Formats: sequence, C-alpha cells, structure tokens
Amino acid sequence: MRMNEETFLKVEHLRKEFDLKVSWIKAIFKGKKKTVKAVDDVSFEIKRGETLGIVGESGSGKTTLGRTVIRLIEPTSGKIIMDNTDLTKLKGDVLRKARRDFSIIFQDPMASLNPYMRIGKIVSHPLEIHNIGTKQERKEKILSLFEKFNLTPPEEFYNRFPKYLSGGQRQRVVIARALITNPKFIVADEPTAMLDVSVRSQILKLMIQVKEEFKLTYLFITHDLAGAKYICDRIGVMYLGRIIEIAKKEDIFKEPLHPYTKILMSAIPIPDPNTKREKLMPKGEIPSATNIPKGCRFHTRCPFAKDICKEQEPELRDIGGRLVACHLV
Ligand SMILES: Nc1ncnc2c1ncn2[C@@H]1O[C@H](COP(=O)(O)OP(=O)(O)OP(=O)(O)O)[C@@H](O)[C@H]1O
Ligand SMILES: [Mg+2]
Repeated sequence: MRMNEETFLKVEHLRKEFDLKVSWIKAIFKGKKKTVKAVDDVSFEIKRGETLGIVGESGSGKTTLGRTVIRLIEPTSGKIIMDNTDLTKLKGDVLRKARRDFSIIFQDPMASLNPYMRIGKIVSHPLEIHNIGTKQERKEKILSLFEKFNLTPPEEFYNRFPKYLSGGQRQRVVIARALITNPKFIVADEPTAMLDVSVRSQILKLMIQVKEEFKLTYLFITHDLAGAKYICDRIGVMYLGRIIEIAKKEDIFKEPLHPYTKILMSAIPIPDPNTKREKLMPKGEIPSATNIPKGCRFHTRCPFAKDICKEQEPELRDIGGRLVACHLV
C-alpha cells in the first residue's frame, strides 16, 4: 500500500489480547479462559517528524500500544505500516534489520540499564547487534553523543556503572542508546515519570532538540498532560484499549469534545486562582479490561450518558477535522 508522502506511520485496526492463565479447576467449572483486550481496535497515523502523544489513565493500554507498534509485543491482529513497509509482515532477519529504524525509551532508566555493564558498553550494544562500525568507530560515536548530551567528560561516563549516575543522567544514557543506531522513530513510554521535577523539563528539551537534529518521529506516551502540551503536536486519548479522541493539541486543550477528555482536562490545575472551571468527575472505577462494557465503553462512568450509549459502540467520527468517538458530540 502506498501512503501519503507525509504519513510516516499508519496503524490500522490494531488489537492486542492477552490470555490470562486460569487454574484448570476454574477452567473446568467456570468455562472459557479470560482475555484482556489491552489494545482493542486502534487506528491512527503519524506524519513524518510529528509527535503524537498518547494519554489516558493507568491500564488504558498505552504501554501495550507503544510496544505493539514496534513489535516488541506481537499484535493479535491489525496492520502497522512504517515508512511504507508493512511491519506486521516482517519476520526473522528482515525484522531484525528493520529494528535499527526504531527504538523505545522506557519509563524507569534504572530498570532499563544493566547494572553490571559499563555505560559505554550499554550504549554500544545496539551497534554490536546490528554490526555497525568498528570498535573504534563505535566508541567515537558514543563519546560524541555523550558530549552533546552533557555527559562530560565523556570518557569518564563511558567507563562508569549506572549506579554512579543521577536519574537525569541515566535517562540521557537511555536516550543516547535509543539514538545510537540513527533510528527514524521513537516510542517514548513516560520517559520523565520517574524523574525529579527539576530534571523533567531538561529531558523534554533534550528530546525536542534531538528530534530536530535526528529528524525523528515520536509516539510519546504520558500521564503528564502539561508535558504532553509542551512536546506533542497531536494527542490521542485512550480509554480501555481504544482511542476515543484524537486531535491537534491546541484543540484538545482548548476545547475537549469527548466527555472523558473533558474530565482529564478539568483535572489540570489552573495557575490563575481567579479563573473558575467546572470540575468534572468520572463515576466509579475504570472497569476491568477483561470485561469491557457493551455500547460506549465509557458509558458506565460518563456523567452525560444516554440510552444509546449503553447500546451502540460509537465509532471515531470526523468532527471539524478531529476524530471523536461519542454519540453525544
Ligand atoms: N503481559 C500481560 N499479560 C496480561 N495482561 C496484561 C499484560 N500487559 C498488560 N496487560 C493488561 O493490559 C491492560 C493495559 O495495560 P498497559 O500496561 O498497556 O496500560 P497503561 O495504559 O500503559 O497503564 P500505565 O499508565 O499504568 O502504565 C491492563 O489491563 C493490563 O493489566
Ligand atoms: Mg504504561
């Protein structure tokens, strides 16, 4: 399939289901196995050089989506077209080669760095896997990246172990490792969530800087709406495995359309104490992803739900250039 030149990533009807293990006794007495629909029919596009944010509360499927898009997790079904290549069809050596082109930055820099390896070796690892450069060339490339990332003196950082770095420095190393193979696409899964507030904005700035320099396209997963406002071009809102609204960030922040997006936005503190805004609250808890409500999946918590919402699942519809899945909009 030939895509619009502008489109870098096109995800179509992506699903990821996890089968939960149940004991054989339960399986016999209670019948069929339980399935978690972590990503449940998700479609979207990202333009080349664009940053698409994915927001939504815990358990909505953001991480599963991010990992499935780069095939760290195998999709149950659906299509992922990246840079005119159908990733879902790649196997073996071809898939391994394609992996140079995309990376992921995880939330917890400590957990994603092997504590027994020196920093230089950690960052060099992807180059070794893909057989890029000689030993000397790899080292030079890493040292120059460290210099750029303020990990100085670079030689010193090259030989250090992760535990002797601050949280912000560790995340810089994680970003360096993600960039070392010159990828085109990065999934960042809450890259600042574990960091001290004071270093969060530095890491976001670094991500913006390298995006320009390396001509990257980002899928940026976050809980932090202020961070999303800062770094993203468009934002997709996820609820129970599905994107329920996707639009330019200005539209999402100025005039959220889906009731769930309205609720998320009303939770952001307003700096000006004189401005009043209605605080909206969802009803009850997020339902289990093993038992997604019939009809609109948000109706059980929606303050505005009508009868139709209990019966029919709303599709994402184009409303003035943005996509919203709600019967009431
Ligand atoms: N390997 C797995 N096996 C079974 N269920 C899983 C697995 N991974 C994720 N899930 C389930 O899939 C759903 C989505 O999880 P996911 O981690 O993608 O959410 P999330 O939006 O990233 O949440 P958070 O904001 O807490 O990181 C959850 O119900 C989770 O329990
Ligand atoms: Mg997550």
